[in-house]
Amino acid sequence: MEVIFLDNAATTPLEPRVKDEMVRMMENFGNPSSTHISGRGAKVEVEVVRKRIAQRLEAEPGEIFFTSGGTEADNMALFCSVRDLGVKRIITTAIEHHAVGHPVEFMVERGEVEAAYLSVNEFGDIDLAELEALLKDGPKTLVSLMFANNEIGNLNPVKEISVLCKEHGALFHSDTVQAMGHLPISVKEVGYDFLTCSAHKIHGPKGVGFAYVRSGLKIKPLIQGGAQERNMRAGTENTIGIVALGKAFEIATTEMAEDQKKVEALKQRVIDGVKRIVPNVKFFGRSAELDKSLYTVLSIAFPKSANDMLTFSFDMKGINVSGGSACTSGSNQGSHVIRALGDWTSNYQPVRVSFSKFNTEDCVDAFLNVLEEIYVPA
Ligand SMILES: Cc1ncc(COP(=O)(O)O)c(C=O)c1O
Repeated sequence: MEVIFLDNAATTPLEPRVKDEMVRMMENFGNPSSTHISGRGAKVEVEVVRKRIAQRLEAEPGEIFFTSGGTEADNMALFCSVRDLGVKRIITTAIEHHAVGHPVEFMVERGEVEAAYLSVNEFGDIDLAELEALLKDGPKTLVSLMFANNEIGNLNPVKEISVLCKEHGALFHSDTVQAMGHLPISVKEVGYDFLTCSAHKIHGPKGVGFAYVRSGLKIKPLIQGGAQERNMRAGTENTIGIVALGKAFEIATTEMAEDQKKVEALKQRVIDGVKRIVPNVKFFGRSAELDKSLYTVLSIAFPKSANDMLTFSFDMKGINVSGGSACTSGSNQGSHVIRALGDWTSNYQPVRVSFSKFNTEDCVDAFLNVLEEIYVPA
C-alpha cells in the first residue's frame, strides 16, 4: 500500500540533498575536540555550519549551541534561566509543547519558580494586554511563548511580545521548532533571548538541533562533562547530524518562498475540499486562516462522526495524519492544546493534517477521497 505522509509537523522525510551531506560526513569521522588533522577537519565542518546558521538568523556564531534537538534546546532555555539568571517567574500558556510545559511544571513542583499562564481564547489567541499587565510587576521573569503552535498552527506576535519583554526587563524564550526554516526569523529584528530548532522538522535527521542564546546571558551548561560547545554543552558533537542540520537549514531558508507558495496552495485545497465534504466542519485555532497560521499545519475539527476513529481509519487506507500531536499518540489523554481551547472542543474530533514541500495535489486529493469514504455524520 502506498503511504501518503501528511503528518509533517510530527517529522519530515529526509531531503535527498541532506542525505548526501550525511553520507559525505560519515567518511569524516574525526572528533572535533582532537587537535590532529582528523579532528581539525571535523571541527571546521561544525564551525562552518554554526557560522552559516548564525548569518541567516542575523545572530553571532557564538550564540548558536548544537543540541540533541528541540526538546533539549527548550529545556536548556528554561532550566538555565531559572538556575543561572535569577528568573523567579515564567509566563507561558497551556498550549505550549510539552518540551516547554513539562519543565515549567517540574520546576514549579520543586518550588524553584512560579508560573503564570496567559489565557487563550477559543481560537488559541493570547491577549497582549494581559501579558503587559502581568509584566508590570512581579519578580524577574522569563516569557516563554512559541512562534508557531505545532497542533493548531497559530502564530504569536513575537515582535510585540519581545517589545513588551524589553520594556519590563523580562527575558523572552520562543520555541521556534515549527517555525524555523518555514518563516523568516531574525534575532536582530525581533530581539529574542532564546530560540530553538530541530532538524527533523525541516527534512533533516532526528536527534539534532540548536539553541540560540543571546550573548551576554551567562548561563552554565545543562549537560555537564567535556568542554564541547565552548563549555556550554558537554558531549562529543553529533558531527553527521550537525552537518545535516546545516544543509537542511540552508535549503529550507533559501527555498522558503517557493515552498511556502506551494504548501499554501495545498493547504487551501484541503480546506476547500473538507468544507465541501463536511459542510459543518470547523477548524481548531487559526489554522484555516492562511495569514494567521503556519502554512504547514491545518487542524480540522470534525463534528462527532459515527466513525469515532478517523485517524485510525485514515491510517488503514495509507494516509498518515495525526489526532493531535505525535507526542500524545499512544496515550489516550487527547491533546492538551485542543482541550485548552474550551469545552466546545469535546464535541469535535481533531485531525491534524500537516504538509511539506514533498506533498503534491495528488496526496491531498487522496486524503479528501478517503475522507469521503470514512466520514459518516453521527
Ligand atoms: C513546537 C515543538 N517544540 C519542541 C519539539 C521537540 O523537538 P524534538 O523532537 O527535536 O525534541 C517539537 C516536536 O514535536 C515541537 O513541535
